[in-house]
Amino acid sequence: MTACITGATAGIGLAFAEALAAEGHDLVVVARDELRLTTLAHRLGTEHGIAVEVLPADLATEAGCAAVMDRLRTTAGSVDVLVNNAGFGLNQDFVGGSLAQEERLLDVLVRATLRLTHAALPGMVDRGRGTVINVSSIAGWVPMGSYAAAKSWVTTFTEGLAAELHGTGVNATAVCPGYTPTEFHDRAAIDMAFLPDWAWIDAQRVAAEGLRAARARRPVVVPSKRYAALALATQYAPRPVIRLAGRVVATSRAARR
Ligand SMILES: NC(=O)c1ccc[n+]([C@@H]2O[C@H](COP(=O)([O-])OP(=O)(O)OC[C@H]3O[C@@H](n4cnc5c(N)ncnc54)[C@H](OP(=O)(O)O)[C@@H]3O)[C@@H](O)[C@H]2O)c1
Repeated sequence: MTACITGATAGIGLAFAEALAAEGHDLVVVARDELRLTTLAHRLGTEHGIAVEVLPADLATEAGCAAVMDRLRTTAGSVDVLVNNAGFGLNQDFVGGSLAQEERLLDVLVRATLRLTHAALPGMVDRGRGTVINVSSIAGWVPMGSYAAAKSWVTTFTEGLAAELHGTGVNATAVCPGYTPTEFHDRAAIDMAFLPDWAWIDAQRVAAEGLRAARARRPVVVPSKRYAALALATQYAPRPVIRLAGRVVATSRAARR
């Protein structure tokens, strides 16, 4: 079995890559930094005796997406597990912020997820087996900028896919983590010093609970009981309360810039 993980060099994607490698899957690892990919491939190949293909690609670009789509359509060494994980955050107001950055965000979080899934699924359905895991976020339930809106799309898209795939042997799962200590916040220059230690959930746990949920064919999972409870609250609390929560988070982030 071969698994393709986007954003496999760091954080949550790296945790998925390590967990799938430990189970004996061959891997196709995708990210932009080729040196990091090659180092990872060598390490996982040596530690687990698996084959690891390195596929450097910028998923914000046409050429990068097309290269990964081509690999997902290949029948030799067919991909049975696709983890759409690559992503980043923005630390800017929408008004007056960089439009190019907003568009890159949508390209990576939404457009690449859509296109890679579209490339992978026909083969999986023909073979009668396969799994798509889309890494979304708990932020998708709270209105607070374009990142949250994009993650809302990822979760809803995945739930719809799971319904469409029912009975095919293929399943789709949206994994919605809370705050996870990765390179994500540093890359976006988001100061997280205010967050207490107990509020972080580690990437290995996110990947383990994500894989468990996918195997149980659950369309959505929120790793950890505390974040699952928070997600439930955001889904059932009156919408004005959730809008207020979104405003408080956005205002506090702006104050920390
Ligand atoms: N950390 C959190 O608190 C948190 C919470 C909820 C959801 N998430 C989601 O989890 C996913 C993974 O984030 P993370 O926290 O693990 O971040 P991370 O540590 O910064 O890792 C991001 C990964 O994505 C790759 N990547 C970024 N832009 C890319 C592009 N244009 N094309 C291809 N690959 C790209 C990076 O490698 P290169 O730079 O080499 O390309 C890296 O491997 C994201 O979708 C994020 O939205 C994170």
